[in-house]
Amino acid sequence: MDERRILKAELRWVIVVAIAVGLMVIVIITTTLTNALHPPSNVETIDPATLHLAGEFVEANLGAQENDDGTVTVRLVATQFAFVPRCLPVPAGRQVTLRVTSPDVLHGFIVAGTNVNTMVVPGYVAEITTEFDKTGDHLMPCHEYCGLGHSNMWAVLRVLPEEEWNPDENGRMTCDLIP
Ligand code: CUA
Repeated sequence: MDERRILKAELRWVIVVAIAVGLMVIVIITTTLTNALHPPSNVETIDPATLHLAGEFVEANLGAQENDDGTVTVRLVATQFAFVPRCLPVPAGRQVTLRVTSPDVLHGFIVAGTNVNTMVVPGYVAEITTEFDKTGDHLMPCHEYCGLGHSNMWAVLRVLPEEEWNPDENGRMTCDLIP
């Protein structure tokens, strides 16, 4: 008799857990389909010890770059305790790819009000492709505890209307070039 009561209680909790898991799966599927919220899955390695010496992530190559097809690539380095560069201009309504890596420890970032959210793992390049519709400044804080200066680590993603997006002759755009 006692055993039956225990079995019934266990079954009740199995149902509760199944409902909770089911709800979470529904939330994940819904946000994936409606807001393009999903974990970044780019597995691309890079040597964190030399990324500032040569290749894609040298200082001169950081920042926003317009590609030949009109899309924009933004390259930045997340390091203790800053994003380089700190101000990231992007055009509204165009495909933008963010490419980020770290030379030291684990960092991460979100862009407020958008679906951009990723970890930045040393040794890997985090890549997110998205489109920004709301013009204006979006705060971009580091969201992985990375040391004593963690709370001071943030950047600004500046979404510009098309008429304010005027890159130089090399296709590079910085916040200094905003009219
Ligand atoms: Cu970088 Cu927290």
